[in-house]
Amino acid sequence: MRSGSGLAALLGAVVVATSLFAAPRLTLKSTSVELPYDELAYPEGPGAEVMNANCASCHSASMVLLQPKLSREQWTGIVRKMRDVYRAPVADEDVPAIIDYLASLSPN
Ligand code: HEC
Repeated sequence: MRSGSGLAALLGAVVVATSLFAAPRLTLKSTSVELPYDELAYPEGPGAEVMNANCASCHSASMVLLQPKLSREQWTGIVRKMRDVYRAPVADEDVPAIIDYLASLSPN
C-alpha cells in the first residue's frame, strides 16, 4: 500500500502545480494591417495585353513590375524559366513582345 499512497501524493502535487501555473486568460484584440502595394494586372499601355494574357495567371503583375533593373538578357532568362521550370503556357509567337515589354521596364 505504500506505493499507492506515493502515487496519490504525486498526483496531488501535479494538481497543485498545474493550478499554480495556469495560463492567464487569453484576450483577443482587433487590429488592422496595411498591405503592401500589389498591382494585379499590367497597367494599360503598349504590350499590356500580351502581358495580361501570359503573365498574370500565377502571380500578380507586381512580381514583375517591382523587380530591380534587369537587362534584356536577364529578362529573357526569366521568361525561359517561367516556361521551362514553372510550365507557364506562353506561345512562342508571344515571347518577343513579352521580352520587349520587359526590357522597356528598365531602359538602359
Ligand atoms: C505557370 C505559372 C506562372 C506563369 C504563367 C508565370 N509565372 Fe512568373 N513565377 C512563377 C513562380 C512559381 C514564380 C516564383 C514565385 C516565388 O518565388 O515565390 C515566379 C516568379 C516570377 C518572377 C520573380 C523573379 C524570379 O525569377 O523568380 C518574375 C520576374 C516573373 N515570375 C515573371 C513572369 C513573366 C514575365 C511571366 C510571363 C511570361 C510569368 N512570370 C508567368 C510562376 C509563373
